[in-house]
Amino acid sequence: MGAGPDPQPSAGQVRMPADPGGHTAGWYRHFGSVEAPGSSPCYAEWTLGIADDPELIARIERWPHDKRQPNLLLAAARYLGAEPGPFAHFRDFLETRWDDVSAIVLSRSTQTNEAGRCATLLPSLAAISVAEGKPLALLEVGASAGLGLYPDRYAYEYDDGTTVTRLSPAPVPEGSAAAPVMKCVTSGAVPLPASLPSVVWRAGIDLNPLDVGDPEDVAWLEALVWPEQEFRRSRLRQAVAIARQDPPLLVAGDLNDQLPGLAEQAPDDAALVVFHSAVMGYLSAAGRSEFRRTMQRLAAGRGCHWLSNEGHMVIAQEDGSNVVPEVDPQRIMGRFLLTHNGNPVAITGPHGQSLEWL
Ligand SMILES: C[S@@+](CC[C@H](N)C(=O)[O-])C[C@H]1O[C@@H](n2cnc3c(N)ncnc32)[C@H](O)[C@@H]1O
Repeated sequence: MGAGPDPQPSAGQVRMPADPGGHTAGWYRHFGSVEAPGSSPCYAEWTLGIADDPELIARIERWPHDKRQPNLLLAAARYLGAEPGPFAHFRDFLETRWDDVSAIVLSRSTQTNEAGRCATLLPSLAAISVAEGKPLALLEVGASAGLGLYPDRYAYEYDDGTTVTRLSPAPVPEGSAAAPVMKCVTSGAVPLPASLPSVVWRAGIDLNPLDVGDPEDVAWLEALVWPEQEFRRSRLRQAVAIARQDPPLLVAGDLNDQLPGLAEQAPDDAALVVFHSAVMGYLSAAGRSEFRRTMQRLAAGRGCHWLSNEGHMVIAQEDGSNVVPEVDPQRIMGRFLLTHNGNPVAITGPHGQSLEWL
């Protein structure tokens, strides 16, 4: 089991420091100086403050290694009510609430569920449905709360710098939840569909599925969104409302163990698509290779499409490496590579904010 990085913009596939011993301060400093500044000045200040605070670093190092990542501590504090503001106030908050923060850190993990990623998957999903002449059966591994399973229920705005293409879901009965609008800047020849594909089955696997009907799980999902990103929090709430009306089938367990059995439940008359975003970083190299073999068996047996949307450090290649010869890793840095059945098709913004077709 890997370390469980959080899928924030450039932190998409942050690996744990090689030497867990003395690197916690450096990890927080890197987070505060490289990963956070563009997206969250507040988190940048807080993590730099922590990095320079030996007492806090010592406390963090009393947690198991896979619980020390900045995002987990920050989300736990936000979940408990820490308000954006100067580090001195945050330091006071941590001092007063350390036992509570510890309890959340030890019981939760980073499970950010970003419905916006549907914008980068949608063109591929629609193309698969058209090519197969069938509606879709969606199976997401590492689904968190399953918000990625509703690409047919969200609205989209694709902006290529000249034209904005809007796609809307089928009209819903009055009183139904409004569709969030997923905005995505495109470049290259993105094959935008004329309409949204039809989805007849949706299911997910997660080590710890979050329940859109449970207010504490939803509060945790909100706490995982960085403070300044209000537009993400608001679309998260809208996506949760949509999922609540028709909750997904979510199976608890390891993706390699659960995938074959769950895939068998997909209807035969639909095109099965197994997909994942910001998940492979949680697996060991052996787990990623096993997943690749599982997908190969599934494709050869029942038949399925495989969409992978992951950072450049954790793309599982046939030879066990993460090297994609067709794409310069520098181009992917800070973004994700979208592959369809192992073939690179696009470089995507980690929250679905951009789609560069290859
Ligand atoms: C960062 S979240 C991404 C959620 C979702 N894919 C998205 O894009 O919004 C990663 C999820 O993968 C799950 N996960 C990690 N390792 C897993 C495994 N071995 N089997 C199943 N789920 C796993 C975590 O519990 C977490 O919910």
